[in-house]
Amino acid sequence: MTTQIALITGANKGIGFETARALGGRGMTVLVGARSADRGERAAAALAAEGIDARFVQVDVTDAASVEAAAKRIGDEHGRLDVLVNNAGITTTDAAGSPPPSAVAPELVRAAFETNVLGVVAVTNAMLPLLRRSPAGRIVNVSSGLASLGWLTDPHDPLNGPNLLPYNTSKTALNAVTVAYARELAGTPVKVNAVAPGYCATDMNGHAGPRTAAQGAAVIAGVAAQGPDGPSGAYLAEDGPLPW
Ligand SMILES: NC(=O)c1ccc[n+]([C@@H]2O[C@H](COP(=O)([O-])OP(=O)(O)OC[C@H]3O[C@@H](n4cnc5c(N)ncnc54)[C@H](OP(=O)(O)O)[C@@H]3O)[C@@H](O)[C@H]2O)c1
Repeated sequence: MTTQIALITGANKGIGFETARALGGRGMTVLVGARSADRGERAAAALAAEGIDARFVQVDVTDAASVEAAAKRIGDEHGRLDVLVNNAGITTTDAAGSPPPSAVAPELVRAAFETNVLGVVAVTNAMLPLLRRSPAGRIVNVSSGLASLGWLTDPHDPLNGPNLLPYNTSKTALNAVTVAYARELAGTPVKVNAVAPGYCATDMNGHAGPRTAAQGAAVIAGVAAQGPDGPSGAYLAEDGPLPW
C-alpha cells in the first residue's frame, strides 16, 4: 500500500504535535507544519526519534507566500496530499485578558479570524489540487465546542464555556467554512469535517484543560483516517456529532 502523506498545521506543539504523532503512528508520513523553522525542526526530530517518518514544512497560515511555498514543496516532493489537518489556531487576549463582547477591540476579532478562518481557507485552497490527486483526500478543521451555537444558546449549555467573542465566533465561522467545502467537494473522494477535540491542557489555555493533548488528537486522527463510508460536512467530537 502507498504510504499516506499528511500535513498538520501548527504541529510543533500541543494538539497539532500529538495529531502528527498519532497519524505517524498509523504509518503515515507526517509533514510537520510550523511557522518557526526552529520549533518545527525540533518537533519533527522528536517524532523521527520515535520512528515516525516526520518532516518539517514551514507554513505560516497567515502568510500567503509561505502557504504557496509549502504547497509547491509538497507537490514537488510527494505529488499529492492525502490528509490536511487545519490545526493552527489562536485565541486572542489583550491587556485586560479576555474582555466581554461589549469591550472587545475589533482588532482582536480580526486577528482571530485571520488565523482561525482565513488561514484555513488559504491553506485549504493551496492544498486542494494536491488533495484531489489522492484516492481518498481528508480535510479536518480543528474546531471547538465553543463554536456550537446550539450549545451556546442552550440554557443548560453542557459546556458552560467562556464567552470569548473573537475565538468563539471564529470557530463558528470555521464550521461554516467546513460545510462550504464539503458542499463543493460532495461527489468527490475528498471529505471535509470539523472536529472538536475537547478541552485539552495546552499552552493555549495555560494547561487548564482536563484532557490531554493526545486525547484531543486521537479524535482528530480518527476522523482524518476514516474510510470511504465516513461522513463529510460533519461537526464531530469524541462521542459523535455536536449541535451546530
Ligand atoms: N486546547 C484546547 O482545549 C482546544 C479545544 C478546542 C479546540 N482547540 C484548537 O486546537 C488547535 C490547537 O490548539 P492547542 O490547544 O494545541 O494550542 P497551542 O498549544 O497554542 O498550539 C497552537 C499551534 O498553532 C500554531 N499557530 C498559531 N498561529 C499560527 C500561524 N499563523 N501559522 C502557523 N501556525 C500557527 C502555534 O505555533 P507557534 O508555536 O509558532 O505559536 C502552535 O503550533 C487550535 O485550532 C485550537 O483552537 C484547542
